[in-house]
Amino acid sequence: MTRNSPLISTAAALLRAGRLVAFPTETVYGLGADAANPAAVRRIFEVKGRPPTNPLIVHVADDRVARQFAVWDTRAGELARKFWPGPLTLVLPRHRSIAAEVSAGLHTVAVRAPDHPVAQELLRAFDGPVAAPSANRSTRVSPTTALHVRAELGDAVDLILDGGPCTVGIESTVLDLSEGTQPTILRPGAVTQAEIESVVGQVSVFAGMVEPNVAAHSPGQHAVHYAPRTPTFRFNPSEHEAYRAKASDEPIGLIVLGSGESPRHTGPVVTMPSLPETYARHLYAVLRELDEMGLRAIYIELPPDEPRWLAVRDRLDRASQPV
Ligand code: TXA
Ligand code: MG
Repeated sequence: MTRNSPLISTAAALLRAGRLVAFPTETVYGLGADAANPAAVRRIFEVKGRPPTNPLIVHVADDRVARQFAVWDTRAGELARKFWPGPLTLVLPRHRSIAAEVSAGLHTVAVRAPDHPVAQELLRAFDGPVAAPSANRSTRVSPTTALHVRAELGDAVDLILDGGPCTVGIESTVLDLSEGTQPTILRPGAVTQAEIESVVGQVSVFAGMVEPNVAAHSPGQHAVHYAPRTPTFRFNPSEHEAYRAKASDEPIGLIVLGSGESPRHTGPVVTMPSLPETYARHLYAVLRELDEMGLRAIYIELPPDEPRWLAVRDRLDRASQPV
């Protein structure tokens, strides 16, 4: 898609009319609606099958728009200057101009400026905040291509803007700045704890998992999330050889760690890149591909328990069960 494509004006007009538009961001594709239109926002929840207790992220072109509906402070200003546009979502106290449905009744709002030319074009053409969760059915794997969005949502979405495959590949870091003095990472992502701490000092990481039917402070905290339909399990690197042998005997899919830059497919064994950034970029497409093969199960070798793998391990934990 080129800059100022006529599709961008069509998309902005659809949003103004209360319709839903899926659009690319650098993390995953979003399912967008006018954040000031309660009926349009309710439609997002319907289409995704999302519980109304799970709040949405509001997307803005820049901090100037965010300041109109989020209670801004010095830390938010410094973080936005350093990481926006980019994969960092800030949770801040909210003003009334945003539909209450967006925040699922909370007194806060989550906001981020995506770093993708198509998302930026759309947000500038629409000239206002756009509420957008990931464009998948609730609890399923987030889409990282326009085709994934079509497969997830079909005709329930009025327009899908195709901006190619997402470069980050997993959802943004969610940072809660609304409570107490110490910011808390509610969902790890490409912007790391260390990077955030270099700007605002010490932050904590929410480590817990919440059972499926309990309202979570942040729904990404639910233990089952981002999950394929095929039963999916995780194992430790020490068991690598055992699972390779199992995969040669049984119709199971295997996702293992390797070296090199892109996944190499040899039947249902996928060797993932050894860098966390490239691993993240390919993860959801690989999970989808294996999920469509009618396998008995998918087994995933866990990457090392190191800070740089935190966001990837978080998604793998939610996509799978221990063996
Ligand atoms: O990368 C992303 O963040 C993508 C793209 C489309 O921007 N969006 C995304 O949205 O992942 P969603 O709805 O799938 O996840 C939103 C996350 C959830 O974990 C939710 O709990 C949290 O943001 N969240 C939203 N509003 C919140 C609030 N007021 N307080 C705490 N957490 C909030
Ligand atoms: Mg999601």
